[in-house]
Amino acid sequence: MALMEQEMDKRNRTGKDYGDDAKLIAAGGYIAPDENLWQDILAAVMLQKPVLLKGPTGAGKTKLAESISAQFGQPMQSINCSVDLDAEALLGFKTLTQRNGESQIEFVEGPVVKAMKNGHFLYIDEINMAKPETLPILHSVLDYRRMMTNPFTGEVIQAHPDFGVIAAINEGYIGTAPMNEALKNRFIAYPIPYLTGEQLQQLWDREFSEAGSELKTFMLDLASDLMKQVQNGLLSEEAASIRSLLDATALAQHMDPLRAVRYAIAEKLEDESERDLFMDLANTWKK
Ligand SMILES: Nc1ncnc2c1ncn2[C@@H]1O[C@H](COP(=O)(O)OP(=O)(O)O)[C@@H](O)[C@H]1O
Ligand SMILES: [Mg+2]
Repeated sequence: MALMEQEMDKRNRTGKDYGDDAKLIAAGGYIAPDENLWQDILAAVMLQKPVLLKGPTGAGKTKLAESISAQFGQPMQSINCSVDLDAEALLGFKTLTQRNGESQIEFVEGPVVKAMKNGHFLYIDEINMAKPETLPILHSVLDYRRMMTNPFTGEVIQAHPDFGVIAAINEGYIGTAPMNEALKNRFIAYPIPYLTGEQLQQLWDREFSEAGSELKTFMLDLASDLMKQVQNGLLSEEAASIRSLLDATALAQHMDPLRAVRYAIAEKLEDESERDLFMDLANTWKK
């Protein structure tokens, strides 16, 4: 760990002092499910290895990436992958500009080039949503070479020492292809689960410090029950999404909690039988 702390100081650590919770609560607000995960991810970042966060929607992957960026005090460039993502969206594009009455061609740098040159983090969200032919352009950026030749300008770009890559993937999600092997091989992969138990309680206490304890207890009991049903295969994973549960709790401060969970969670489940099961569970926890 001594090496890691030295490295952290070198990289201008901005982490706040969280005392005993330091292993669980990251500077940017991510709460880790156990004492190792956050430190283990920082180790890979420090070693300049690209990090892949694997987990369901609303598990805090984006929050975690923001927390890494906050921890190191380095800005983050983001890319949202979709089938339309192309080399220009990654690297940038040429444009015609007027200077002193003369037109000239200028290259507007995209997120990859900006991050590489300035030593920012590059966050690639839903990396398996991109077309398989789009991302191989990043292979040399993601391995020990940490460089690329920009095909639009011919410029050879060597990454700044602080440059780092964080990608996120939701593997089970419909409409996603499995991630290309050569691409995946370049990452260190971490499972990012939904929070449970004490850590979930901690998140609720932080986000809803004003809310009544009855409401918080209802939501947390419901959350742990949902998690069980998901594990038993009776509900699809997104039924236990922390994002939706947070939304439900926020809504429930303005309406009947059962209506709040219907709008924030149940109505988004595909199957009618899942929606019914969900509302039955919610009813049993609402005393
Ligand atoms: N472990 C966690 N720590 C802190 N916030 C979390 C955590 N899990 C979920 N959240 C909160 O839930 C919401 C969704 O998180 P987000 O990072 O957008 O999820 P993802 O990118 O995995 O879909 C955000 O408000 C986030 O702060
Ligand atoms: Mg996200």
